[in-house]
Amino acid sequence: MLNEKVSDLLNDQINKEMYSAYLYLDFANFYTNKGLEGYANWYTIQAKEEMDHALLMMKYLQNNDYEVTLKAIDKPDKTLVKLDDPLHEGLKHERYVTDLIHTIYEAAYEIKDFRTMKFLDWFVDEQGEEEKNATDMITKYELFGTDPKGLYMLDNEYKSRVYSAPSLTLD
Ligand code: FEO
Repeated sequence: MLNEKVSDLLNDQINKEMYSAYLYLDFANFYTNKGLEGYANWYTIQAKEEMDHALLMMKYLQNNDYEVTLKAIDKPDKTLVKLDDPLHEGLKHERYVTDLIHTIYEAAYEIKDFRTMKFLDWFVDEQGEEEKNATDMITKYELFGTDPKGLYMLDNEYKSRVYSAPSLTLD
């Protein structure tokens, strides 16, 4: 049996991950409308990864006999005007998600829920990677993105990102 507080937090996190997916689809849509298909591709794949995160949490709860309740997903609410707005909003959002994951981890740690801590280890690492990716995208944009040729090359680089399933799997 999972602890009620920990499992309720995980259930809420499903919703936050789905919101993340929705937010990144909004970013992808913004870049498509600007003619930047590479950035759009990058965020579309990011949206798929966020859905994977939600599915993993759902599966973990189900495997532990918890009845998942799916809640309404908020509308993406970031104001996107400048080409680098999504990059900054993305980093801010990932830092927020890191805090959420750490809060769940802390709740599991307090009651010695080792199973959930082990499950969350993957997400703790993943958040580190996602914050790094978001930071790198800002750095590259600042270095090259304000020049049309540089932006063209960056956009081409992001076109090459391909989706791969998460390294964590649950039966
Ligand atoms: Fe599921 Fe981007 O954290």
